Amino acid sequence: MAYLIEPINPRHDVRLFTCTHKPLESFLKRFALGNSTNHLGKTYVLTQNQSNEVLGYYTVSAYGASRDSMPDKELLPRYDLLPALLLGRLAVRSDLMKRGLGRLLMGHVFEQAWATANRVGVYLLAVDAKDEPAKEFYMHQGFAEFNDDPLHLFIPMTSIGRMVAPASPNGNNN
Ligand SMILES: CC(C)(COP(=O)(O)OP(=O)(O)OC[C@H]1O[C@@H](n2cnc3c(N)ncnc32)[C@H](O)[C@@H]1OP(=O)(O)O)[C@@H](O)C(=O)NCCC(=O)NCCS
Repeated sequence: MAYLIEPINPRHDVRLFTCTHKPLESFLKRFALGNSTNHLGKTYVLTQNQSNEVLGYYTVSAYGASRDSMPDKELLPRYDLLPALLLGRLAVRSDLMKRGLGRLLMGHVFEQAWATANRVGVYLLAVDAKDEPAKEFYMHQGFAEFNDDPLHLFIPMTSIGRMVAPASPNGNNN
């Protein structure tokens, strides 16, 4: 089965997309394309076998993370606001959940984040989990808690780099 993850475009068919969390369904149907065009948040969609039907998606945008909200902040660079990306939305079609598609989308998120971080400074990837099951999913993917809200999570770019670009023999993992 050939999966494709690419930026949303007008040919993608979102009509049959259903999500257990209705705001994630209506965002895809009503705002994802326009927000991508207007640079508010870029949505990437998952399709299969040359069909345009959307099976899952995620949305990313630029973000700034307060250093004060980070655990072990004394170990961090001394900037009040750390450059970041925000994974604003992530969803898999409700009848296709728990088959590995969320993991597939997260792999793409990490690759995109790493590529971006090698062009502009991005210190971490943040997400606001909408509930405990979503939080558990993200913790399983390597995220940790900010200290301002138990559902506010992050993963450092160094950890993403270790996943998507394992160090070369000379120790350089750019
Ligand atoms: C969260 C969501 C995107 C996960 O996608 P999915 O396709 O169901 O998850 P996957 O099958 O790819 O699971 C990936 C891994 O996470 C684990 N996992 C999935 N859901 C989990 C949960 N609730 N708690 C802990 N681990 C979880 C799986 O066991 C799997 O582990 P593995 O990689 O070791 O095999 C999907 O369930 C969804 O769309 N939920 C509704 C919308 C939502 O909550 N979005 C998050 C918004 S903040």
